Amino acid sequence: MNAHLHPFTDPRATEVAPPREIVSGEGVRVTDAEGNVFIDGMAGLWCASLGFAPERLRRAASDQMAKLAYYHSFKGRTTDVTERLSKALAARLPGDLGHLVYGTSGSEAVEVAIKMARYAQAGRGQEGRTRIIARTGAYHGSVTMSAALTGLQYVHDGFHLPASDVIRVGRPHWVDEAGPGESERAFADRLVAELEEMIEAEGADTIAAMIGEPVMGAGGVLLPPEGYWEGVQEVLRRHGILLIADEVITGFGRTGRWFGCETYGIAPDLMTMAKQLTGAVFPLSAVAMTGAVRDSVADRAHEFGMLGHGVTYGGHPVGAAVALETLAIYEEMKLEERTAELGARLAAGLAPLRQHPDVREVRQVGFVAGVQFDSAETGLRVGEAAEARGVFLRIVGPTLAICPPYVATPEDIDEICRVLIESAG
Ligand SMILES: Cc1ncc(COP(=O)(O)O)c(C=O)c1O
Repeated sequence: MNAHLHPFTDPRATEVAPPREIVSGEGVRVTDAEGNVFIDGMAGLWCASLGFAPERLRRAASDQMAKLAYYHSFKGRTTDVTERLSKALAARLPGDLGHLVYGTSGSEAVEVAIKMARYAQAGRGQEGRTRIIARTGAYHGSVTMSAALTGLQYVHDGFHLPASDVIRVGRPHWVDEAGPGESERAFADRLVAELEEMIEAEGADTIAAMIGEPVMGAGGVLLPPEGYWEGVQEVLRRHGILLIADEVITGFGRTGRWFGCETYGIAPDLMTMAKQLTGAVFPLSAVAMTGAVRDSVADRAHEFGMLGHGVTYGGHPVGAAVALETLAIYEEMKLEERTAELGARLAAGLAPLRQHPDVREVRQVGFVAGVQFDSAETGLRVGEAAEARGVFLRIVGPTLAICPPYVATPEDIDEICRVLIESAG
């Protein structure tokens, strides 16, 4: 029997067929224990932006380990490299999101963003505002509050999550959920009106924040319809509800700009980030907040005598050193130009699928795409056929997600597209 209970896997199935063991990586490719080589068209879990054995990140980690392999940021201490990372991120983040709390995973960043939003609301005299709005199809993690916010049933089943803290609203999935003849704009307006009705029905004075991914990833690469984020932000502002942008996937170039918020004109009060912050080479996450949120949090914390939150590995110096080097590489590669070039190549490669009889929609922004087939059965068949031909994609019901590392060559992208087209038949 397997000694490891594998995430999002049926343990009984692994007793019969153990998972594929990956033993090495190079660029966009990984090799399994039997010597099979795959292009990982998903950068692992939307995260290994610089590939699977990036030399410069290995050196950054090793140099930092030799100098200071661990220290914390509790009770009047911190590390030089963690402070340098904070300055670098504050300079890069959009708007006034210059204040950071660190963690080790995206789920943790989401949990912490919720704590900070509640703290900030209480800090400005709104202690009754505790509940959070989240969307159907959202993925915000799999711990407790983050799992409750996730709007995918398989993350909820059997776990008794704190569902009463969450107010659920609809997802912006135009092709599947628009009414007959409803334009993209009219659909967005309807979702925004439904959001406001929900807020009024539930009571704005009970709601701390809304959380949303600028582009929904694990829910099927759902791009926001025109006018959606503009309308959502206007409603939230009017009702004193904070906006948390969950940029765990979209952060660091994926949608074409440094942050998804910049691509879609979103000015959040808090932002979560992880994954591509370190090219996934070290588990590091962060929550950024605006100066106003930071002030309210500081007022509230001061009432208690401290910010009563912290984790042993938050702001880990090795993670901070890796993140700083990752940011330096992104700057050198001219991240936005690079993802535009990669994205154009991917769009050209996927174009023939737009005419395919089994394809319902091809969605893409920046260097992330989703090809939605006519059914989950087709999605599964095509995804498995692509894996048999040497390309990993993510199967999300009827949609195959594509999110390759930024170190992909034009030929790698062409190969992903060729395999996908052949697999679609
Ligand atoms: C948008 C979003 N938020 C949060 C998470 C959770 O991150 P982690 O798996 O690092 O806990 C994910 C993971 O895919 C994600 O896509």
